[in-house]
Amino acid sequence: MEHTIYRGLEGVHIDTTQICRIDGLKGELIYRGYDIRELADKVSFEEVIYLLWHDDLPNAAQLEAFKTELRPHFAVPDAIFNLMREYPKTVHPMHVIQSAVSILAAFDDQADDIGLDNVRRIGAQLVAKFPTIVAGFERVRQGKEPIAPHPDLGIAANFLYMLTGETPSEAATRVMDVALVLHAEHGSNASAFIARATASTLTDVYSAISAAVGSLKGPLHGGANAAVMKALEQIDSVANVEGYVLDTLAKPAGRVMGFGHRVYRVLDPRAIILKGVSHQLAEESGDSKWFDMSLEMERVMEREMEKKGRQVKPNVDFFSASVYRMLGFPGDMYTPIFAVSRISGWMAHLYEQYADNRIMRPRLIYEGPVGRKFKPLAER
Ligand code: CMC
Repeated sequence: MEHTIYRGLEGVHIDTTQICRIDGLKGELIYRGYDIRELADKVSFEEVIYLLWHDDLPNAAQLEAFKTELRPHFAVPDAIFNLMREYPKTVHPMHVIQSAVSILAAFDDQADDIGLDNVRRIGAQLVAKFPTIVAGFERVRQGKEPIAPHPDLGIAANFLYMLTGETPSEAATRVMDVALVLHAEHGSNASAFIARATASTLTDVYSAISAAVGSLKGPLHGGANAAVMKALEQIDSVANVEGYVLDTLAKPAGRVMGFGHRVYRVLDPRAIILKGVSHQLAEESGDSKWFDMSLEMERVMEREMEKKGRQVKPNVDFFSASVYRMLGFPGDMYTPIFAVSRISGWMAHLYEQYADNRIMRPRLIYEGPVGRKFKPLAER
């Protein structure tokens, strides 16, 4: 019997969704009908979370009520910080998030209830706690005490505040909000798919989310932003960019991180916005090193990919690297920041999955040996 193999599940649709649509040929991304370019320009991360979890953007009263709902959940149990203090300082922060999610399950006596009201309750907890966990670990590994969340600040400002104890400027808060809005949701990407596939067994939200965190960490997915920064650090100057790109492409299966996408054949609209933010930060700071290197990398890649007839453009992780660098974040915090945002999209997918579930159970075509003659242990 003939079987079609869809390697990497390319071209496979696992269900319908109301959350997000990507048009990879036009370079369009919409969250529940709203163009990402307009959202990035005009709304806060909280408004986007509300949009992803409901049918529409909140009005002023709904937004205030949502913020009030989230506020008490910013704090995390001391057990999480205590465990962080025991970790080696070198542990990847994504492992810290993943273990924190499991600890939160341990402290939730309703963890296994996958009724939609309870799933929404857990979603509010997780979206509020992720920034506290990421900022808290950054403090702890520097030998400092975590800073308690500020009751008057939103998620973007609070994240920056919990890193330093200083109320961030409006400009820094806005950049953070834009980054969080842009990373919130992206259809059936690897980690959202993993969240849905895990939930499709009707296991609990915490298990689905910790699986998604593990998936996001990989360098072909959310880990790419950290890999971009590593590459830029290694290259160190505009003059070295061309050599780096050519050497990388000359390697078998060589990949320049931050480029390429399964869905986009034109420039990722998120990359266009982040490129603008990176340019702005470079001008404001008077230090354009990271932006200039990124521009040169984009130029050389465009030329080289054109020669190969490939549509490989910068993706969301490419310019977010220089943006995060200019905001002063350490490289291994870039992917955790992605998680701080993407938890909102994962939760939206879990609502859809639990609301109308069918277990995900694809198949593999067996190509191994058959009919082997069994030998007892003593004869092998
Ligand atoms: N550098 C060089 N060539 C590339 C790249 C790249 N980054 N991406 C794709 N190509 C080429 C690739 O060589 C292949 O050509 P050929 O068939 O001649 O070997 C062709 O484009 C198709 O690539 P693919 O790897 O088969 O495409 P995919 O859809 O399976 O993988 C991807 C998509 C994003 C994993 C891949 O483009 C990649 O590895 N990029 C680098 C990692 C990265 O930036 N990941 C972030 C993804 S976007 C946001 C997110 O999820 O976090």
